[in-house]
Amino acid sequence: MFNLNMVGYTDIIMIGGITAIAVYLWVSSKTKQTTTMVDLKKLKVLPSNVEDNSGAKGASSEKGLIEKMKSSGKTIVIFFGSQTGTGEEFAQRLAKNCRLYGLKALVVDPEEIDLEDLQRLNEIENSIAIFIMATYGEGDPTDNAQELYDYLQRGEWDLKGLKYGVFGLGNKTYEHYNEIGKYFDKRLEELNGSRLIPLGLGDDDVNIEEDFVTWMDKFWPIVCEYYGISASEQDISMRQYKLLNIDDVPEEKIFKGEVHRLNSYNRQKPPFDTKNPFMAPISVKYNLFKGTDRKCLHIELDITGSRLRYEAGDHVAVYPANDAELVDKIGKLLNVDLDQTFSLINIEEDATKKHPFPCPTTFRTALTYYLDITSLPTTQLLKELAQYANDENEKKSLQLMASASEEGKAHYNSFIRDEHTDLVNLLEKMTSLKPPIDHVMELLPRLQARYYSISSSPKVHPNTIHITCTVVEYETKDGRQCKGVTTNWLLNKPVLDDLKSKVPIFVRKSQFRLPFKFQTSVIMIGPGTGLAPFRGFLQERDYYRKEGRLVGKSLLYYGCRKRTEDYLYQEELEEYEKNGTLTKLNVAFSRDQAEKVYVTHLLRKDSNLLWNIIKEGGHIYVCGDAKNMARDVHDLLIDLCEKEGGMGKTQAVQYVKDLGQKSRYVLDVWS
Ligand SMILES: Cc1cc2nc3c(=O)[nH]c(=O)nc-3n(C[C@H](O)[C@H](O)[C@H](O)COP(=O)(O)OP(=O)(O)OC[C@H]3O[C@@H](n4cnc5c(N)ncnc54)[C@H](O)[C@@H]3O)c2cc1C
Ligand SMILES: NC(=O)c1ccc[n+]([C@@H]2O[C@H](COP(=O)([O-])OP(=O)(O)OC[C@H]3O[C@@H](n4cnc5c(N)ncnc54)[C@H](OP(=O)(O)O)[C@@H]3O)[C@@H](O)[C@H]2O)c1
Ligand SMILES: Cc1cc2nc3c(=O)[nH]c(=O)nc-3n(C[C@H](O)[C@H](O)[C@H](O)COP(=O)(O)O)c2cc1C
Ligand SMILES: *[C@@H]1O[C@H](CO)[C@@H](O)[C@H](O)[C@H]1NC(C)=O
Ligand SMILES: *[C@@H]1O[C@H](CO)[C@@H](O)[C@H](O)[C@H]1NC(C)=O
Ligand SMILES: *[C@@H]1O[C@H](CO)[C@@H](O)[C@H](O)[C@H]1NC(C)=O
Repeated sequence: MFNLNMVGYTDIIMIGGITAIAVYLWVSSKTKQTTTMVDLKKLKVLPSNVEDNSGAKGASSEKGLIEKMKSSGKTIVIFFGSQTGTGEEFAQRLAKNCRLYGLKALVVDPEEIDLEDLQRLNEIENSIAIFIMATYGEGDPTDNAQELYDYLQRGEWDLKGLKYGVFGLGNKTYEHYNEIGKYFDKRLEELNGSRLIPLGLGDDDVNIEEDFVTWMDKFWPIVCEYYGISASEQDISMRQYKLLNIDDVPEEKIFKGEVHRLNSYNRQKPPFDTKNPFMAPISVKYNLFKGTDRKCLHIELDITGSRLRYEAGDHVAVYPANDAELVDKIGKLLNVDLDQTFSLINIEEDATKKHPFPCPTTFRTALTYYLDITSLPTTQLLKELAQYANDENEKKSLQLMASASEEGKAHYNSFIRDEHTDLVNLLEKMTSLKPPIDHVMELLPRLQARYYSISSSPKVHPNTIHITCTVVEYETKDGRQCKGVTTNWLLNKPVLDDLKSKVPIFVRKSQFRLPFKFQTSVIMIGPGTGLAPFRGFLQERDYYRKEGRLVGKSLLYYGCRKRTEDYLYQEELEEYEKNGTLTKLNVAFSRDQAEKVYVTHLLRKDSNLLWNIIKEGGHIYVCGDAKNMARDVHDLLIDLCEKEGGMGKTQAVQYVKDLGQKSRYVLDVWS
């Protein structure tokens, strides 16, 4: 084996002591790559401040944070940093719990306040600031918390007197586990704040719901003592929204599925973004697999006239709709007329969020477009629903699952998680459970947009965005068929140009980009649907070759199960290899022989070739499955640096980390 003293390369800088593995997930957002980067506009996935159809601004945006808290008698402020809604949901839930103790809390999106106000919180007697913060990427904050994070980092402020508590959201399978939560907790103390509640960390890979409930169990005794109030929570259910059935609203004033602005789907106005998606017709759609029940869709979305711009490597977000049959089932189970028009109105008059989703609308629209009806029920939902179970055993079962006891957690894990009990299934299993629909709607999370790696290049397809997606379908232990919301909705969508057949989309910039210089060689690793962005990359490189430019080597490592079944874009890829745009096409068929062959096996065989490309400044791209594949590839790269580059382990780890920092090793992975 090589040891450190034998390392002779001068282009390797040794930095000792760093042994952590660096996995750059999703996008490597700390590294600014090239000048071609388009303004990384803050995109929020969750429209959090849906206004009435008037489009008038809420009272929130006019008053400052401190004034707002003072005028409404609120002492607790809860900031959330959230990308996919979990953190925001926790923040709302904590605020709701506050009211059970007679305390008033304000939930705040840090993006929407003047950050200087943080220093003024001590103007409010007995104020507490709670930070519920998710971690992304390489230990990065969410988009909506970026400015707050930068503000704390600059650290020019004295936060003396600030009483605070932090709950972080993360996932232990990522290297930078909960880094943002930990950072906030430490940093606020450094800035002279005083920690009132110990740091809580939620692990999404096990049961983040449970972690949050456990943290709240510690939260309440401390907060109650601080305010000198009784620690026994009144066992009453508190509603945040009240239901208003409406019968006389004109048709054009009713939301029909628009994510934010009324009638924005039939009266389309650019610019298009997360709150104002473009309604794209599907111009092409077909199944890429053959001879198997699994399906993988190739879809072309027509963006003609939308002024939407994209780059190879960007993501397109799709707002889906729930399955009509499931929605009907909920209507029947809860005994409601789904076509009733209603509004859910926040009972607090000056709340930031007037409605939980766009209102007025119908129950059918809300259950179809606004609410996530297929994710597994949270303990909070079960807790609040328990009061509606007429059967004592069912009520006890719900209460037990919602409790923080070991027995309760075990019951939740077996009844909800193992048995995959979603809302419809729960209502079917517990026949005495008949909650009012408005309370259910208040408790369900918002239906989220789904992201897809764009599989085309705008150089070749300026008017279409291509996606390559595997249709999600799986069986539960008791033999029920479950279907992924978005992929099945896309599968069943007709290829027509009417409004009903269009897909609400927006483009999200990524940092998954080809090298700035055409001559730079690229190593692309993407088994399964991980191939998607590389199809865009190849189109782009092919385009430049046709322009007569000198383009560097392009190596592709792709993998699928069987050559005859799920080999994506086989002909295209083989053509690219023939005409030289692809220097070498390497495909691992995992199930065509007795022993599995994966992309990692092929990469290992090519160690020497790969090392030479890396040494000469080549870029490495990895796309697809985060959990196993990306991790294995990462380990392999470290091995490769050790064996081919003659480095020691520590040095190899650092070398790979540096590649990531220089955007020469970039990942676009998901789980
Ligand atoms: C940045 C990014 C890029 C992406 N790019 C692509 C892409 O190019 N192509 C692509 O196909 N996808 C891509 N995805 C994934 C995509 O966004 C969706 O998550 C995926 O299509 C499923 O969406 P859905 O609404 O159909 O399924 P959902 O309704 O969201 O259902 C998926 C959920 O079902 C559950 N589930 C799935 N399989 C099983 C099982 N076997 N057993 C138990 N539970 C299960 C899991 O909880 C899973 O989270 C990407 C994701 C991200 C974050
Ligand atoms: N979280 C996970 O564990 C996981 C894993 C795979 C896919 N997914 C998700 O499932 C969805 C559909 O997947 P898909 O259609 O893209 O892929 P897929 O068809 O399931 O897999 C593509 C190929 O990758 C192989 N593979 C499995 N593990 C690997 C590893 N550690 N390293 C390299 N190759 C490996 C598979 O082999 P075999 O199947 O024969 O082993 C198959 O040949 C995607 O959303 C993907 O993110 C999740
Ligand atoms: C693309 C992606 C990257 C992530 N990166 C990290 C990470 O680096 N560290 C971590 O602890 N958790 C990471 N997570 C887990 C999230 O922080 C976790 O799922 C959290 O509950 C999300 O909260 P939100 O729904 O409020 O955005 C990541 C999740 C995704 C989808
Ligand atoms: C914290 O308080 C001390 C003592 O009052 C002060 O000297 C110091 O500057 C404060 N720190 C910051 C970061 O403002
Ligand atoms: C946590 O991350 C792992 C790996 O990326 C993934 O398999 C798992 O599904 C994630 N957990 C949740 C709940 O998202
Ligand atoms: C190479 O093959 C691809 C895939 O068929 C094709 O689209 C492209 O035009 C070809 N390029 C050249 C330079 O011939």
